[in-house]
Amino acid sequence: GAPERVTPTGAPTDAPMSAMAQQGEYLTTAHGVRLTNSDQSLKAGARGPVLLQDHHFREKISHFDHERIPERVVHARGAGAHGTFRGYGSATKLSRAGLFAKDKETSVFVRFSTVLGSRGSGDLARDTRGFAVKFYTDEGTWDLVGNNMPVFFIQDAIKFPDVIHAGKPHPDREIPQAQSAHDTFWDFVSLHTEAQHHTIWNMSDRGIPRSFRMMEGFGVHTFRLVAEDGSTVLVKFHWKPRLGVHSVAWEEAQLINGADPDFHRRDLADAIEAGAYPQWELGVQVFEDTEDQMFQGIDLLDPTKIVPEELVPVEPVGLMTLDRNPSNYFAETEQVAFNPNNLVPGIDVTNDPLLQGRLFSYLDTQITRLGGPNWNQLPINRPHAAVNDMLRDGFHQSAVHSGVAPYRPNSLDGGNPAETPEDEHAFIDYPAPVPASVKERVRPQSFEDHFSQPRLFWLSLSEVEREHTAQAYAFELGKCWDENIRTRQLRHLFAIDPALGKTVAQALGLPEQEPTEAPAQDVQASPALTQVGETWPV
Ligand code: HEM
Repeated sequence: GAPERVTPTGAPTDAPMSAMAQQGEYLTTAHGVRLTNSDQSLKAGARGPVLLQDHHFREKISHFDHERIPERVVHARGAGAHGTFRGYGSATKLSRAGLFAKDKETSVFVRFSTVLGSRGSGDLARDTRGFAVKFYTDEGTWDLVGNNMPVFFIQDAIKFPDVIHAGKPHPDREIPQAQSAHDTFWDFVSLHTEAQHHTIWNMSDRGIPRSFRMMEGFGVHTFRLVAEDGSTVLVKFHWKPRLGVHSVAWEEAQLINGADPDFHRRDLADAIEAGAYPQWELGVQVFEDTEDQMFQGIDLLDPTKIVPEELVPVEPVGLMTLDRNPSNYFAETEQVAFNPNNLVPGIDVTNDPLLQGRLFSYLDTQITRLGGPNWNQLPINRPHAAVNDMLRDGFHQSAVHSGVAPYRPNSLDGGNPAETPEDEHAFIDYPAPVPASVKERVRPQSFEDHFSQPRLFWLSLSEVEREHTAQAYAFELGKCWDENIRTRQLRHLFAIDPALGKTVAQALGLPEQEPTEAPAQDVQASPALTQVGETWPV
């Protein structure tokens, strides 16, 4: 059988955390010796000096000195909640993942976040929001690490340090980006036309949600579902809030951020405490898993593109309810480690080059952030499925493994643990064909259309939403001091829509610009998009 994992104190691994450090009634040192006094240091005489011999003083101060762990390199500010996901059964024909079965309940932990602000920044920043969900399924942990916007700034993960360096506070003054856009952000997005789509979402009202409870969530990338019979489909994941999608206006955001910078985390915690449990339906847009992975001219591997819901409606597959607040922010919301690599049998990745890079980055950053390779043992990250791995030792190892042969095959520990036959719900890497030569640092032609979807988004907005969006561009670009950058970005706005360009140019006191020349395929690549116009998004 599986070697049982225990903590060094002999407590079973699923014991509450407090069992490790809060036993008995008396205050003790970390090694369990009772203390008479924790308020005065040990001194030579009543007025000092303080003695080096005061172990309790040194332990107390030293542990405090090391209380902080590095904040996340992105998405540092967040709020979490526990809940349950209940499958509708509608996705069982698409995926063998057990969590989709009808009425199957799976525990989840969700962390909402802003992207660019530091851990102590204000909630109401104009920014993308993270929407990360950890499903503790019987078949292992699945993390759906998404955002509240369906597209991303870049198409290849190798650009991630670039876009984040441009968006984070200026290196000289560390003045945060979030409340006052500055030159580096606009420099980046004006030099990368592929960033225009995500940027217009940020400049729209979607950039300042009213509440985490009123945000959509998106897996962004296209994923692959694998059914029991081995057949596959491509899907895009959507979370639809039961409360609808709502935002606040910029002026409201300014006031709220001043009066209550914790507005979003307070709103989430208060709602759950009051029993007003927020709910989201999980849905999928389903596409045929064709060889070219295109849908009506849209490259499904391009994370700067959506597929309009008028063309492919979202099919609901389950309901998530958040009904429990964390009891310890650090142990849960801060130490939780999401990772797009955490997949379960029946859910697989595609070749989206942004997703492929993410598969490396999260695991890598968490080795620094959580101090070594054993963060899966932290209570919030512990799978609810049985774990029997051959990973051993390392910083912060708290399991005491038994057996003498941590390798496979072995003939000393009875050959354990055994491998699972392929037909018994093991994870099988989908054998996706690789169509081309191995070494190519190129952007595919089908990733070149950068303006038709921002235009589609702009055309979908109501008049007042367009007003807000144009005002946001004018305000944010007004904070950009470099006129070349402002002009370059204005040309992109004229390419998105002349009316948008004109309004923003006027507000900035700049002359009208020639639109950026869109590549020819910009129009040809997405013929379907010209048909949706006014009605999207819902
Ligand atoms: C963190 C979403 C792209 C690297 C996060 C978080 C979310 C997220 C929601 C916060 C997780 C939490 O609450 O703990 C996304 C989405 C992306 C994207 C939706 C694109 C569609 C990328 C890319 C990279 C990256 C391309 C790197 C190549 C990171 C890192 C963290 C992070 C390093 C911090 C993780 C940690 O410290 O635990 N991302 N991200 N992300 N993301 Fe992304």
